[in-house]
Amino acid sequence: MPRTRLVAGNWKMHGSRASNNALLEALVSGAGRLSGAECAVCPPFPYLQQVSDRLRGTPLAWGAQDLSEHAQGAYTGEVSAAMLCEFGCRYVIVGHSERRQLCGESDARVAAKFAAAQAAGLVPILCVGETLQEREAGRTEEVVGRQLAAVLEKSAIGTAVLAYEPVWAIGTGRNATPEQAQAVHAFLRKKVSGATRILYGGSVKAQNAAAIFAMPDVDGGLIGGASLVAQEFIAIAQAAAAGAARAGERIGI
Ligand code: PGA
Repeated sequence: MPRTRLVAGNWKMHGSRASNNALLEALVSGAGRLSGAECAVCPPFPYLQQVSDRLRGTPLAWGAQDLSEHAQGAYTGEVSAAMLCEFGCRYVIVGHSERRQLCGESDARVAAKFAAAQAAGLVPILCVGETLQEREAGRTEEVVGRQLAAVLEKSAIGTAVLAYEPVWAIGTGRNATPEQAQAVHAFLRKKVSGATRILYGGSVKAQNAAAIFAMPDVDGGLIGGASLVAQEFIAIAQAAAAGAARAGERIGI
């Protein structure tokens, strides 16, 4: 089943009005070269207006890095799904390992956030991934399976996107090998529909993207550090688009 590839940039807590402007201009001018793959950026909340103003009407989509599981109320510092919709977000990252680790987000809370995003019409990008200790203990499938099951107990996967992000590969410069990524993606694939996109994330760069995206169950990437450098991010998105063209040739579309 053909799946449109997606490359999403997670800006994390980086950026300023000035640096975002420069990055967005460069992305918009490179966007014409990306047909065949979808491309999105996820800035910090305060910059959603700036991003939507610049990207509306372009082929680039945008999203947020997190949301509240609540619709509204006395939740100081939180942002609801409906608010993200007002800023034109298509996507929202849910359950990123930094939020699980640094903010104590449990599987149950991630599942509630996922449901809130879907109910508002957003496309959640659900992150799952094991720590180095868990991988070395042979527990990778158990961990990602548990993280995914918590969500699927409450919600159907629908049009949501999955992202396999091994914690040991995030921001470390040590990416999973294409074969390591493929093995986990194939495991996850059995639990979702053939139409569900499964992204790989963790130290994806222009230089390793093509090999990772060549794997049959890797449908694009969730990109952190490299999404802040326009040329890198465009090159990664081009690798996804080129891979999509080759996969289309293989299955005759
Ligand atoms: P990285 O981050 O590309 O900088 O490793 C990926 C992520 O955290 O989504």
